Amino acid sequence: MGRIYTLVNQKGGVGKTTTAINLGAYLAYYGQRVLLVDLDPQANATSCLGVDKRQVKGGVYEALIGKSPALPHILLNPRLKISLLPSTPALAGAEVELVPELARETRLREAIKPLIERYDYILIDCPPSLGLLTLNGLVAARNGLIIPVQSEYLALEGIGMLTQTVQRVRAALFPELSIRGVVITMFDRHNLSRDVAAEVQKHFPQQIFQAVIPRSVRLAEAPSYGQPISLYAPSSTGAQAYAALARELLAGDGIQVSP
Ligand SMILES: Nc1ncnc2c1ncn2[C@@H]1O[C@H](COP(=O)(O)OP(=O)(O)O)[C@@H](O)[C@H]1O
Ligand SMILES: [Mg+2]
Repeated sequence: MGRIYTLVNQKGGVGKTTTAINLGAYLAYYGQRVLLVDLDPQANATSCLGVDKRQVKGGVYEALIGKSPALPHILLNPRLKISLLPSTPALAGAEVELVPELARETRLREAIKPLIERYDYILIDCPPSLGLLTLNGLVAARNGLIIPVQSEYLALEGIGMLTQTVQRVRAALFPELSIRGVVITMFDRHNLSRDVAAEVQKHFPQQIFQAVIPRSVRLAEAPSYGQPISLYAPSSTGAQAYAALARELLAGDGIQVSP
């Protein structure tokens, strides 16, 4: 049965989408069947994988509002062996449209249930907010949350609010919700980055991934070629870091791969 992880941090620009794409790409590289769910109306993950948003007929929106199952909207990138449940502009309306609906926070969990057997890993990329879409992402995170934290000043600002939201979700909707790990992103050699890493370590002592993602121009360039780093610049430091993160996740999940 597949594992479901949700990438969440209500701060924008911390590396959620970059991590979803590149972790997903390396999990696929190591032989896993991967589905990426683009839960952000901005559709960054969808475009980063080279999908033309205007060509997409449906996606996660249709599944959330119960208009159709998710399966027929899944796109496969055969080169990467990654599947994508894309975001479409309509998703922007879901935040409001779902408000009066029954079971509005469990829509995504139910929508991806029929897909669990088809994939080894389902990664959900959340928007930068703590609204109803992100709540759906939290409730669907069967195996836990992956929280990217950018190594910058005030990195942990807002983490308290995220932790509170996680506790509320545990109390009301999903008692088993766990934090699988915190990933430090955009690390550079400055002392500030080290301080932030130490601070994060203090805050989440048991849950920090050993793999640290460096700041890398290659990682920022890859999306404009519609490619993950594993294709665009496989020998770059950013690629090596995401490969290491994928191996760490796999090892923690008890899945053996050769390096
Ligand atoms: N490790 C990194 N090094 C350099 N640039 C990065 C790195 N990670 C992300 N970026 C860039 O930073 C911006 C924000 O990253 P993104 O993954 O879209 O964040 P989020 O999804 O949390 O909003 C993007 O332009 C992305 O290309
Ligand atoms: Mg994003």
